[in-house]
Amino acid sequence: MAQIMKMIEPFDLKSYGHNSLKTIQVLTEAERRAYADRSYFLGDPDFVEIPMKTLMSDVYLQERMKDFSFEMATPSDSISFGRIVGYESDETTHYSIVDQFGNAVSITTTLNGAYGSKLYVDELGFFLNNEMDDFSSRPGEPNMFGLTGNEANSIAPEKRMLSSMTPTIVEKDGLLFMVVGTPGGSTIITSVLQTILNVEEFGMTMQDAVDAPRFHHQWLPDVVMMEPNSFSEELKSRLSSLGYNHTENQNPVIGKVDAILVLENGHLEGGADHRGDDMAIGF
Ligand code: DON
Repeated sequence: MAQIMKMIEPFDLKSYGHNSLKTIQVLTEAERRAYADRSYFLGDPDFVEIPMKTLMSDVYLQERMKDFSFEMATPSDSISFGRIVGYESDETTHYSIVDQFGNAVSITTTLNGAYGSKLYVDELGFFLNNEMDDFSSRPGEPNMFGLTGNEANSIAPEKRMLSSMTPTIVEKDGLLFMVVGTPGGSTIITSVLQTILNVEEFGMTMQDAVDAPRFHHQWLPDVVMMEPNSFSEELKSRLSSLGYNHTENQNPVIGKVDAILVLENGHLEGGADHRGDDMAIGF
C-alpha cells in the first residue's frame, strides 16, 4: 500500500472527488503498477531479497507512473514489474561541487561504454575502460556515439583520444558563476552549452535550465536529435520546411546535467536533472 500511496501523492484526489472518473483512473493505474511489482518482487523476506529501498524510492515510483495518462488506460499487458537499476549504470558520471569556501570542482569520469571493456581486474577491483573507441579507428568510421574522425584522431602510441567530456567551471567578472557537466557521450558538449545558455541568455533558474528540453546536432548523421514530446509539431514542421532533418532521439534523454549556479546574493542553487536519479544537496 505504501507504494500506491507514494504513486498517487502528486495527484489532487480531493479536487477530483470521491469515486470520480479521475480518482478511479489514478488509483487503478497506481494499483496496476504496484501489483505488477508485488507479483514479481514480493515473497517471504527470510527467503528472498526484496529491493525495498528502490521499490519505495521517489525516483523509481515517479518513473513507474511516467506513462500514466488521463487520456487512456494503460493495458496491463504493457506493464511489467519495474526495472531495478543495479549499482553499475551504463552512464558516465558527472558531479559538480562548491564548498563553503567557494572552491569549485567539476568532474566527469567514465568507463566509456557500459562496464567498459567488460574486463574486470580482480586484484584491483575495477573494470577496464574501452576508451579506445574515442579514437578514430578508420577515417569516416563512426564510433559508438556515431562520431566520425580522421587522421588527427587516429590511434598512435602515447597519443590521447578525443573526448566530448566537458566538465565546466564558468566565471563571470572573475568570480565563480556556474559549475556544469553531464554524461551523454557525443551529446555532452551540447548539453553543457545549452544549460549555460539557458541561464545566461534565457534567464532560467539553474533547475529550469537543467530540466529544459534539449536538442543535438553532431554534423554526422545530418539530423537534429530532439528529446521526445518536448518540441511542438509546428516547430518541427517549420524545421523540416527549412531542410533540417530531425528525429526524436532514440535514447529518450539527451544528457543528465548536474550544475550549480551562484546567485546574486551569493547563495548557491543546485540543478539536478529530472531525467535521472540526480540529486542536489546543500550544506
Ligand atoms: O570521452 C568521451 O567523450 C566518452 N568516452 C564519454 C562517454 C560517455 O559519456 C558515455 N556515457 N554516457
